Amino acid sequence: MKVTVSRKGHFNAAHRLYRKDWSDEKNQEVFDKCSNPNFHGHNYEIIVSVTGEIDKETGYVIDIKTLKDIIKEEVEDAFDHKNLNLEVKEFKNLNPTAENISIVIYNKIKPRIKPDLDLEITLYETPRNFVSYSGN
Ligand code: NI
Repeated sequence: MKVTVSRKGHFNAAHRLYRKDWSDEKNQEVFDKCSNPNFHGHNYEIIVSVTGEIDKETGYVIDIKTLKDIIKEEVEDAFDHKNLNLEVKEFKNLNPTAENISIVIYNKIKPRIKPDLDLEITLYETPRNFVSYSGN
C-alpha cells in the first residue's frame, strides 16, 4: 500500500525568459512579454508530493516536518525574493521557465529523501498555469 504525502510551499521571484544565444528580436518573438529585459515577477506556489510505503513503526511515509524543512531550505530560502536569472546559479545558463524550475526543484529535493520514495513537483506560476515533474 503506497500513500502520497504532500506539502505546499511558496516563493516570490523575478525572471525573464531569454536565451543568450538568440538575438533580442528572436527572444522577443518567441517569449514575447515574458522576455521583458527588465524582468517580471510571479507568486510561485509549489506542491511537493512524496509517495511510498508507510513505515510500520511511525505510521509515516515521511515526517511532514522533515518535508517542510527540506522545502524551506532547498526552495524557499534559495529562491524567495530572488531574481532567478541573476541570483540563482542553476539558471545562469538555463531558461527559468516553469518547466525548468520544476526540474531544478526536483533535483534539489530528490537527494534529500529516502531513495525508495517517489517524488513529484507541481509548480504553479499563476493560479491557472502549472507544470508537474516526477523524474521521467
Ligand atoms: Ni514569467
